Amino acid sequence: MASKRVLLIIGGGIAAYKCLELARRLGERGIGVRAVMTKAAQAFITPLSVGAITRERVFTDLFSLEEERDIGHIRLSREADLVVVAPATADLLAKMAGGHADDLASAVLLATDKPVLAAPAMNPRMWQHPATRRNVSQLKADGVHFVGPNVGEMAEPDEAGPGRMAEPLEIAAEIEELLEGRRSHPLRRRADPVRRADRSEFGQRRPLEGRHVLVTSGPTYEPIDPVRYIANRSSGRQGHAIAAAAARAGARVTLVSGPVALPQPAGVTVLKVETANEMLAAALGALPADIAICAAAVADWRVAQAATAKIKKAGSGAPKLTLVENPDILKRLAAGGKDRPVLVIGFAAETENVVQQAKRKLKAKGCDWIVANDVSAASGVMGGERNQVHLVTPQGVESWPEMDKSAVAERLIARAAERLAQRAADA
Ligand SMILES: Cc1cc2nc3c(=O)[nH]c(=O)nc-3n(C[C@H](O)[C@H](O)[C@H](O)COP(=O)(O)O)c2cc1C
Repeated sequence: MASKRVLLIIGGGIAAYKCLELARRLGERGIGVRAVMTKAAQAFITPLSVGAITRERVFTDLFSLEEERDIGHIRLSREADLVVVAPATADLLAKMAGGHADDLASAVLLATDKPVLAAPAMNPRMWQHPATRRNVSQLKADGVHFVGPNVGEMAEPDEAGPGRMAEPLEIAAEIEELLEGRRSHPLRRRADPVRRADRSEFGQRRPLEGRHVLVTSGPTYEPIDPVRYIANRSSGRQGHAIAAAAARAGARVTLVSGPVALPQPAGVTVLKVETANEMLAAALGALPADIAICAAAVADWRVAQAATAKIKKAGSGAPKLTLVENPDILKRLAAGGKDRPVLVIGFAAETENVVQQAKRKLKAKGCDWIVANDVSAASGVMGGERNQVHLVTPQGVESWPEMDKSAVAERLIARAAERLAQRAADA
């Protein structure tokens, strides 16, 4: 990526602050960033903070003699390998679609001969307004690439829906794809036999419509006695994010969840369980499913005979607990049989030799894919918001960049939807 350059056009929306992290992430990848800010963007963040991160002059004014003499709007638009608009406000999208050029940002966008990636961010009603829909269709037809918006909470209280800007790491991943030339014209992608299921468009396209997705999530609690149990540190965040992403992609989703302190994802049927045996029964009972994703951190062992009354602290020392193995839910779901889901995906939470262990697990469990992650204390994954995973398939290993668990979920669901579409096309 060294020597690649992005021209980042920052629009006037609340999400403008996320551009600082985006610029930092691009810098980490060796991608040079030069920024243009609209007048409205400067009401949200300052050119000083953008310039401090990009370590470049920030351009703001079409009619500045100094800026025009130093580099000029035509050169600005031509000297980058990619132009990124983030946040792409409703207003900027309208200007781009209409070919306006009355400020530096729009003039640069009209003058550029480089690929353009837009990361829209706006209130869901603005995003769903027929005018914005028309502008987005026009821009796609013109070859503009899009990342997001995601579905989620807005900055305004009680507002949720499509319109949240994609997270900086998601945008950075798209930028890398475009700079590496791995993305074609946005409309040509429609004709691809195996079209990449674009996470940002779940709201409109729903690639898992008519499919049933089974997800397991969270820890299991294995009782020692009525008040004590064996458990692990899983928060359920990754599994719940996957269930939510599958629902946004149009699937009917059954989420079998161990005890977690998370809200129920919208549009998902949740079956609450405690033990591994209960989780297995609920998962088998939910079949048939097209996709099964086992993200739960199921306890490997349970106490052979849980006490029916609280074990008392006696003078004779600590009680001896005999452990027995719990059922292997992933292996059971992956086993052949008429109810085997087309795609069975397991998670491998490891603290060392992550990829090696995952490859071994892929074979041992008979599943189709393993999502492997490092859950050592230093990684902060257990209970944290972010994850860095490796997708292990019989075809090889893909290491994804670190991103929010919701972004991992969106990407995984997009890949799973692609796989099902491919299977259907092959059949
Ligand atoms: C507090 C506040 C937040 C705003 N957030 C957004 C937003 O997220 N998305 C958007 O399209 N417009 C948003 N707007 C409206 C834009 O700032 C306004 O349309 C502006 O003209 C956009 O200018 P630009 O597209 O040249 O940056 C917001 C306005 C205010 C006052």
